[in-house]
Amino acid sequence: MLVESEGTIAGIRRCVSGIRAEGGAVGLVPTMGALHEGHLSLVRAARQRGDEVVVSIFVNPAQFGPGEDFERYPRSLEADLELCRRNDVFAIFTPDVREMYPVASLTRIHVAGLTEGLCGAHRPGHFDGVALVVGKLFNIVQPDRAYFGQKDAQQAAVVKRMVADLNWPIEIVVCPTVREADGLAMSSRNRYLSPQEREQAAVIYRALLRARQMFAAGEREAQAITAAVAQIIRDSGPWTIDYVAAVDPDSMRPMTQVSSPALVAAAVRIGHTRLIDNLIL
Ligand code: PAJ
Repeated sequence: MLVESEGTIAGIRRCVSGIRAEGGAVGLVPTMGALHEGHLSLVRAARQRGDEVVVSIFVNPAQFGPGEDFERYPRSLEADLELCRRNDVFAIFTPDVREMYPVASLTRIHVAGLTEGLCGAHRPGHFDGVALVVGKLFNIVQPDRAYFGQKDAQQAAVVKRMVADLNWPIEIVVCPTVREADGLAMSSRNRYLSPQEREQAAVIYRALLRARQMFAAGEREAQAITAAVAQIIRDSGPWTIDYVAAVDPDSMRPMTQVSSPALVAAAVRIGHTRLIDNLIL
């Protein structure tokens, strides 16, 4: 049963102290809300590890660029609370912007290198905003473990590296991407898609599967693989491709010759909606 939903830092700290007093371990699932099965899979993974789960729901302005979708980002707090209740979440932290940023933060957390390519190249400052808010959440909740989705592979790599570099005693658990029946990676942003766009969006995963096929058939030229993926996406609709890339999954550095493990990742825009997905070869 959901114990408490807390909007204040003091309140969530009290909740967490309660868990610790009972000898429990704390698993944090940071989210921006509009919860779906992808988020819930992280909650379940935490429960399976025996953690008492804290879900944070905060649409973090620091990670949105000018002209991005901060204002219209889907917000569905009531439905989110109900999903948390049904999935055995212990506490939900739902701060507002004033609670998280009472004054504009002068402190930056910049994870260099890992953030230069892929989404970092197309969303300047995005990962600094993610690192800042995740760092704050880690210091507020002080979890034993924190759960992230493979869908946002670059984000997971950035968080892992930040935690290692700063010696935070938090285990980062990365969980597999949860997909719709047609393969589309679940995302809060899928709610923006028109029915026709939603149908077309399944091409991203189909195109990534082509990369897997080519790799299995012996293709090792990154250029050949990413070009084939991009072509499949381009052929299927009015997409703008931000990138299709084959990178090392830890360093996020581009590969010329693909060797296992490799991350093949894509970001595409359809209308005003930007979707990302990836596969490990
Ligand atoms: P959000 O997009 O709400 O995602 C919260 C967590 O759920 C992330 O770790 C993300 O990778 C994971 N997730 C989303 N879709 C998933 C899917 N289909 N399968 C598996 N996991 C999935 O990512 C963020 O929020 C923010 O950047 C945040 C980390 C909360 C910082 O503000």
